[in-house]
Amino acid sequence: MKITPLHPSLGAEVAGVDLSRPIDDATRQALTRALGDHLALVFHDQSLTPAQYLAAASVFGPPMEQHYSQHHMPDFPLIGMIWHRNGQQPAEQWHTDHTNRERPPAATILYGVEIPSAGGGTSVANMRAAYAALPAEERGRLDSLTTFNTLDSGKADTRQEDREKYGKPIEHPMVRTHPVHGSRAVYFHISKATHISGMTPEASRAYMRDLIDRTIQPEVTYHHAWRKGDVLVIDDRATMHRAHGDYDRSQSRVLWRIIVEGDRPRFV
Ligand SMILES: [Fe+2]
Repeated sequence: MKITPLHPSLGAEVAGVDLSRPIDDATRQALTRALGDHLALVFHDQSLTPAQYLAAASVFGPPMEQHYSQHHMPDFPLIGMIWHRNGQQPAEQWHTDHTNRERPPAATILYGVEIPSAGGGTSVANMRAAYAALPAEERGRLDSLTTFNTLDSGKADTRQEDREKYGKPIEHPMVRTHPVHGSRAVYFHISKATHISGMTPEASRAYMRDLIDRTIQPEVTYHHAWRKGDVLVIDDRATMHRAHGDYDRSQSRVLWRIIVEGDRPRFV
C-alpha cells in the first residue's frame, strides 16, 4: 500500500489496494489511520459488485441506512444511488452527511460507476484546518455551541416513513473531536440544523453561512475530478463536501454511496 498526498491540506491517493478482495487487519488499521490523517482517500481503477463494495466500505465502519430510501439500490438498500435521472439535484451546498442521526457517519464513500466527460466533480474541505484558522476568541465561543438537526425541509420527495424514522431533533456539538486523530473540527450541516443553541433560526443560518464563507477557501479544499472506477472515502467527522452540477445532463453521472456509522459526536 502506498499513500500519496493530493493537496497540501487534505486528500491522499491510496495505491496497491484492490477493494474487491478481502482486506487484512493490518491494512484495515492503516486505512483507518490514513483516513483520520488525510480526511479524503482516493482509490483508482476499482471494479466492484455491490456486495464487494459493501464489504470494502465496512473497513471504515458498519454501513448504515440512508434516509432517502427512494434512492436505495434495489436489493442493496445500504447503497444509495446518486443519479440525476432519478430526479436528484446535485448537493452543491457545503455540508457533512446525515447530522440528524445520533451516531452520524464516520465516512461517506462514493464509487464512480458512470462519469460525465467533463465537470461533475466532488469537493472536500478540511474543517479541522478551518477550526484552527479561526481567531482564538471565536474558537472558544464555537466550542460551547450546539446545533439541533432534522431532515432537510426543502426536499419534497422525502418519504413519510423516513420523516418518521429520521426527523426527530438531534443535538450535536459545533466542534467535534476526532475519535482517531484527537483533533477538533468545525461540525454542522447548514440545512439540517434548525438552529444553534440560544440563537434564532435566522441568526443561526446567517452565522453558519458566514462560517462557511470565511473558512472554506481553496487552501483547505481538495477537488476530486472523477474517473470511472474511483472510490472516494470522505471523513465526515472533520470535513464538509459538495457536488458540482457543472456537467452535461445528457450524459450520465452515477455514483454509488455508502455511509458508515461513526461515534456520537463529542467535544473534548
Ligand atoms: Fe453529502
